[in-house]
Amino acid sequence: MPWNISSLGIGTIDARNLQLLEKAEAFRVAYENHRDSEMINLTLNDLESCVIEHFKYEEALQMSKNYPKFNEHKTMHNSFIEDLAYLKSRLNEDGVPPFNMKYFADVLVRWIIDHIDGTDVEFVTYYRSISRNFPAAYVKSWQMAM
Ligand SMILES: [Fe+2]
Repeated sequence: MPWNISSLGIGTIDARNLQLLEKAEAFRVAYENHRDSEMINLTLNDLESCVIEHFKYEEALQMSKNYPKFNEHKTMHNSFIEDLAYLKSRLNEDGVPPFNMKYFADVLVRWIIDHIDGTDVEFVTYYRSISRNFPAAYVKSWQMAM
């Protein structure tokens, strides 16, 4: 299904956000199509590593720019990582399919899109305000077909 997400104008972050969304979607599709525990675990682990690496990168960039809302942003990242860890632990304990897995799979994808469109855009607005050569058209919406 197609998603509309914001391109933030910071190439490295855009590429990582896109990758994150692709991994979340891969996990969602794995659950919907295969219901195979190995594939679901694989895509979830893949998503988790990508999330941790991406958040670290973004947080380092925010710190280097003295972003005033850094702590708030980091708290949101951390709670997402905790949700992933919770989902993983339930998967390991319950096997597949556990309770409301579809709900979680949809929520993960939705969270990433909302985070990019809201919280990440807010950071880029700040970044732009302190950078001289930041491109004017820094936020544009683009569609990603899944
Ligand atoms: Fe973020």
